[in-house]
Amino acid sequence: MNAQTPKVALVTGASRGIGAAVARRLAQDGFTVIVNYAESAAPAEALVREIEQAGGKALAAQADVSKSADVRRLFDAAQTAFGGVDVLVNNAGIMSLSTLADTDDAVFERQIAVNLQGTFNTLREAARRLRDGGRIINFSSSVVGLLQPTYGVYAGTKAAVEAMTSVLAKELRGRNITVNAVAPGPTATDLFLKGKPQDLVDRMAKLAPLERLGQPTDIAATVAFLAGPDAGWVNGQVLRANGGII
Ligand SMILES: NC(=O)c1ccc[n+]([C@@H]2O[C@H](COP(=O)([O-])OP(=O)(O)OC[C@H]3O[C@@H](n4cnc5c(N)ncnc54)[C@H](OP(=O)(O)O)[C@@H]3O)[C@@H](O)[C@H]2O)c1
Repeated sequence: MNAQTPKVALVTGASRGIGAAVARRLAQDGFTVIVNYAESAAPAEALVREIEQAGGKALAAQADVSKSADVRRLFDAAQTAFGGVDVLVNNAGIMSLSTLADTDDAVFERQIAVNLQGTFNTLREAARRLRDGGRIINFSSSVVGLLQPTYGVYAGTKAAVEAMTSVLAKELRGRNITVNAVAPGPTATDLFLKGKPQDLVDRMAKLAPLERLGQPTDIAATVAFLAGPDAGWVNGQVLRANGGII
């Protein structure tokens, strides 16, 4: 880490899956990390202990990103503990798969609330409070390109995240803050694996020319690039990290 590297990174949904790998990696890269979670307090606290034992600095902070008051409290906690936030990683997300015909209101509303409103809530707070020179990394998905049946609502929320990524990159002109999105392909986490029979998982793993599922560490490396000094000229972009599936 050098003098230009942002110091405090807030990772939403960092108790499990990709978010936990991102928190771990950013801590290794020298960032102080806020490990946000909605419900999984014990895994979040365990990750903080792991980072501290490795010589890093971290704090677990509960907040449901779909609630604007929670998100304000999350940024307040970061400010109180570490003086502010330099990097926001908008990783928290949920996925429910069903055809549009079979999607009920509650399933639609929950995905909009967490994936779209949750991202909006943290982006708004970051636009007001992120320190100049900072980085924002949103989470889209390669399904925005693949557009398979049953992914309609989920892909819709992620397409909206990509749109907000481009708009916010422009709105932050003059503050030396970059805003980008990462769009993973199938990645071995609960979100992808839960409820899928093994033969479907195996078939989906073969779809990318690299013929395997992404691992959370693959995506964490992509986020670390966007958060680090080498990505200073990358702004307003969507980086698909998917083994070439699309
Ligand atoms: N896995 C894939 O194949 C894949 C592909 C493309 C994109 N993505 C995107 O990558 C991101 C991470 O996904 P993942 O696969 O790591 O999912 P995951 O394993 O299901 O983990 C989701 C994380 O988000 C948190 N979370 C859920 N709702 C939240 C809320 N309302 N407020 C705060 N935190 C919340 C969870 O915390 P709690 O346990 O505390 O609820 C958990 O830490 C998501 O945006 C997802 O859409 C994933």
